[in-house]
Amino acid sequence: MTGRLHVVPPPEDRYGSTDPVQLLDGLVQFRDGTEVPIQAPGSEDLRSHLGRLGTRPVTTGLAGDELLADIAAERLTGCGGGHFPVARKWQSHQDAGGGGFLVGNGAESEPLSAKDAALMQLRPHLVLDGMACAAQATGARECVLWLHESARATRRSMTRALAERAAANTHEPGVRIALAPDHYLSGESSAVVRALSGGPALPQFRRRPTTMSGVHGQPTLIHNVETLARIGLIARRIVPDSVLVTIATEQARTVVEMERGGLLTDALATAGFCGPPGAVLIGGYGGRWLDGAAAVAATLDPTGLARHHAMLGAGVLRPIRPDQCGLRLTAEIADYLARSSAAQCGPCLYGLRALADTLGALLVGQARPQQLAQLHRHRAEIAGRGACHHPDGAVGMIASALDVFERDLTAHLQRGACAVE
Ligand SMILES: Cc1cc2nc3c(=O)[nH]c(=O)nc-3n(C[C@H](O)[C@H](O)[C@H](O)COP(=O)(O)O)c2cc1C
Ligand code: SF4
Repeated sequence: MTGRLHVVPPPEDRYGSTDPVQLLDGLVQFRDGTEVPIQAPGSEDLRSHLGRLGTRPVTTGLAGDELLADIAAERLTGCGGGHFPVARKWQSHQDAGGGGFLVGNGAESEPLSAKDAALMQLRPHLVLDGMACAAQATGARECVLWLHESARATRRSMTRALAERAAANTHEPGVRIALAPDHYLSGESSAVVRALSGGPALPQFRRRPTTMSGVHGQPTLIHNVETLARIGLIARRIVPDSVLVTIATEQARTVVEMERGGLLTDALATAGFCGPPGAVLIGGYGGRWLDGAAAVAATLDPTGLARHHAMLGAGVLRPIRPDQCGLRLTAEIADYLARSSAAQCGPCLYGLRALADTLGALLVGQARPQQLAQLHRHRAEIAGRGACHHPDGAVGMIASALDVFERDLTAHLQRGACAVE
């Protein structure tokens, strides 16, 4: 693997071991449209997992507080896209009395992402360790793993791992696998709560946070599976100072684990995308475009990305070459996001469609300058108006495209063709 991994050098007494441990071992590549990685070593079984990391510490009672303190000290944030501090979420769950449900969110609805599939197919026990530690520390009584129904290889890997743990009598809460429809919105937390409470897997407006009132009105913790894998390591006092990213190109999605703070272009090169990019979509479909110069300067850490008004989001990097039109990809994504609206809120249903249609008309030279003004107006009208954050992500992504691809925009308006193609 060319992607470097750096482990925070731990004080011997606190961490016990200084062996470098990472979430994944080497890069994992998925050909576009496939669910099984190319040339991956396969699912790590319980024996190898325990041989590599040792047994999972039991985290109940006081030890649970200790885990919470470690999570707070490490400033762990959720890896499902929002990067909300995990310790604050747990505290809110505890303040609501704890117990209830713990959901491992493995839906990975973001079409460009593959990191969660890579983890669940290669390191299923690390994810399950995280679930067990989180459930025991927070007193969650029911554990559910939420997967897209088409994710068959992932389901096989997790089912096998669960059976191994049951046979080994690991003394931990059982985990039930629940299947989500293959939809962009089915991984959104209010949709998860609604589905597990017996409704459709669609977002809903919620007055109280899920941590206080989630599945069947009970306190519910929902965590992305990478967050859980990281909890599984922190419980062992191992902290890989890494970011897990998926580099998506037309041909493949490549998952690499990079040193936090490393250059974004190093991550691209690790996945085989060499040379300066024309632009990079960072964070996924609801992310932000960075122009080529910003992408070359950007580092993979929250501060480095914030300098460019970007966030790692779901950990996706989608580069384009300097001779590619970013507006074309933006229009395709906008159309996908408009089609994905749950059609429950007007601004999302009509507004996203109007934005996508204007972008589509721009591409073929059929948009008039006043439509561009309309595009900006629609953006402002939609932002913050949905019951969930789906339209906010879409609007932010489109706004960044209008800035970054200004030259293409003018060319499309003037002659219906882009500046680069
Ligand atoms: C439209 C939309 C789709 C989402 N899809 C996923 C998903 O597929 N998987 C996921 O882990 N989080 C997804 N999220 C984020 C979840 O709502 C939630 O914040 C996350 O699962 C919490 O886990 P974390 O604290 O570990 O990040 C989505 C959010 C939005 C707005
Ligand atoms: S904002 Fe859109 S996706 Fe979210 S609940 Fe409303 S209609 Fe559904």
